[in-house]
Amino acid sequence: MLFTTLTLLLFFLSQLHCYVVDPGPQVKATKGFVWPKPQQVTRSQEYFVINPKEFRFKNLGKECAILVKAFQRYGTMINVTNSLERRGRLTEISVAHFHRIYDKTNYLGSLSKLYVDLENPCKDDEYPSAVMDESYEINITNSMKPMLKAKSIWGILRGLETFSQLIHYASNEYTLIVNSTWIKDFPRFPYRGLMLDTSRHFIPVYSIYNTLDAMSYNKLNVFHWHIVDDQSFPYQSTKFPELSDKGAYHPISQVYTLLDIKRVIEFARLRGIRVIPEFDTPGHTRSWGEGIKDILTPCYDTNGKATGKYGPMNPASKKLFKFLRELFKEIRDVFPDSYLHLGGDEVEFECWDSNEEVKEFMKMKQIKNYKALENYYIQELIRNIVDITDVHVVWEEVFVNGVELTNDTIVHVWKNDGFTVLKNVTGAGKPALLSACWYLDHLKSGGDWNDFYDCDPHDFHGSQEQMDLVLGGEACMWAEVVNGHNIGSRIWPRASATAEKLWSKKNADEFSKAAQRLEEHTCRMNFRGIPAQPPNGPGFCL
Ligand SMILES: *[C@@H]1O[C@H](CO)[C@@H](O)[C@H](O)[C@H]1NC(C)=O
Ligand SMILES: *[C@@H]1O[C@H](CO)[C@@H](O)[C@H](O)[C@H]1NC(C)=O
Ligand SMILES: *[C@@H]1O[C@H](CO)[C@@H](O)[C@H](O)[C@H]1NC(C)=O
Ligand SMILES: *[C@@H]1O[C@H](CO)[C@@H](O)[C@H](O)[C@H]1NC(C)=O
Ligand SMILES: *[C@@H]1O[C@H](CO)[C@@H](O)[C@H](O)[C@H]1NC(C)=O
Repeated sequence: MLFTTLTLLLFFLSQLHCYVVDPGPQVKATKGFVWPKPQQVTRSQEYFVINPKEFRFKNLGKECAILVKAFQRYGTMINVTNSLERRGRLTEISVAHFHRIYDKTNYLGSLSKLYVDLENPCKDDEYPSAVMDESYEINITNSMKPMLKAKSIWGILRGLETFSQLIHYASNEYTLIVNSTWIKDFPRFPYRGLMLDTSRHFIPVYSIYNTLDAMSYNKLNVFHWHIVDDQSFPYQSTKFPELSDKGAYHPISQVYTLLDIKRVIEFARLRGIRVIPEFDTPGHTRSWGEGIKDILTPCYDTNGKATGKYGPMNPASKKLFKFLRELFKEIRDVFPDSYLHLGGDEVEFECWDSNEEVKEFMKMKQIKNYKALENYYIQELIRNIVDITDVHVVWEEVFVNGVELTNDTIVHVWKNDGFTVLKNVTGAGKPALLSACWYLDHLKSGGDWNDFYDCDPHDFHGSQEQMDLVLGGEACMWAEVVNGHNIGSRIWPRASATAEKLWSKKNADEFSKAAQRLEEHTCRMNFRGIPAQPPNGPGFCL
């Protein structure tokens, strides 16, 4: 009896994890550190005090709408995020006297403005593009001439973001200070994206705005809008309204109108973010068939009986390419970016294989197999839209299946670890984007941003030319289990890890130090209204 009790006791004891926990947060947040990490930073213990009520941006050159709006945004951010009222504890008088009480030796005075020096004046109708210059320089070492300088408006936007992140609370937790700082910064990759799937769940426009705001806080510059898919067609077309009337989850409440889309593009433009739409074909098109008849392939069973199901686009359809040309013409008019994502992933061959019309067609065209049929489809699509579109992006299957592509077609790598294909694509002289390691729908418990941080688009063996062909990458948010309610916390701050890998230099930071910065950056995003989840376990935001 005693023996049994003892054994049981030992068993229970062995089940108890014996570990020691210190009080306080798992990872201590930095103060006034920038995410993504700038290329070059010099910073000292010396500091300026900022009174947000007095602080102004002072433009040294010409004005334009993007700049004026950015001053408003960042002005409000500095004011509201840091407002004393919000802190609700102390008066301005105590702020003004901080340096007398706390840290006399390092006090450099108060900073009442930031001069903004934009070399090439911006235009009111300017759009961010594949070749935009995002470099900037910040010099806050002298209270008389604190300066943000850039060649283009896009650099000024990135610089304002950095400046806003440098401002932080002093050790008393209520005085705003900014350290004496010099920064020279530019992105490592020109293409730093986030993909949003708005088909599996309709993502409301205000969630897209929130996402775009967060993207600008992370210096991401491409919003890849995977707008339609099998399940729903929320794009409201002017030429073909029946597509969303019949193919959206709901023809009114679950669609993006032309006005919605224009607003999203403008919201993004003001933040230096490109909007690249994806109309994925020939697979992933089931919802298209609700509104437009005779473009999808009817599937048959082994007895040759129609199953009532539909497969990919039907290359044998007489009206298909004419319809696609008309639709893509409209898409070109709606979306100003020169890039267009054509999809091309996961084409299922079974349905093509079951359809006699398709087989007849292949015989007639001497198309030997289904990969060749896919090749034919893509070639025909591109041939039909080549005069109305510019740069095409395709998912990797199109390349891997041997479809002939022009050298400037960009191959978007997403399967497995991605590096074999990345090597092959760039080896064939084609530009590439990486997403394989940045799938936001793949979840692990805890703050799993470290897996995202572990991945670098240059982690393969190849020549310098091959490395240069990697334009960047994207974090992808497939929306099977996210909607407007949880999308923000699913994306952030995990996509922040991607953002830093794409902006900062290779191996810019050790994991443990990045964790401290991300702790701060996540709180910063929370203050600004982004529902980012805690990145590192137990902790707090002030
Ligand atoms: C910024 O200045 C404050 C006040 O002197 C100092 O405590 C802090 O260490 C400085 N930060 C950096 C990164 O040097
Ligand atoms: C902060 O708000 C005050 C008024 O509450 C305003 O005068 C000031 O211009 C704002 N600061 C910035 C930087 O926009
Ligand atoms: C920063 O600005 C100060 C004052 O205007 C100037 O003396 C200094 O040379 C500048 N530093 C750099 C690295 O440009
Ligand atoms: C990459 O190219 C090699 C050599 O041509 C080939 O053997 C391999 O199958 C390719 N891998 C992929 C995933 O395309
Ligand atoms: C495309 O790239 C390949 C490989 O770099 C090269 O051999 C070929 O000449 C290029 N084609 C064109 C049309 O530039």
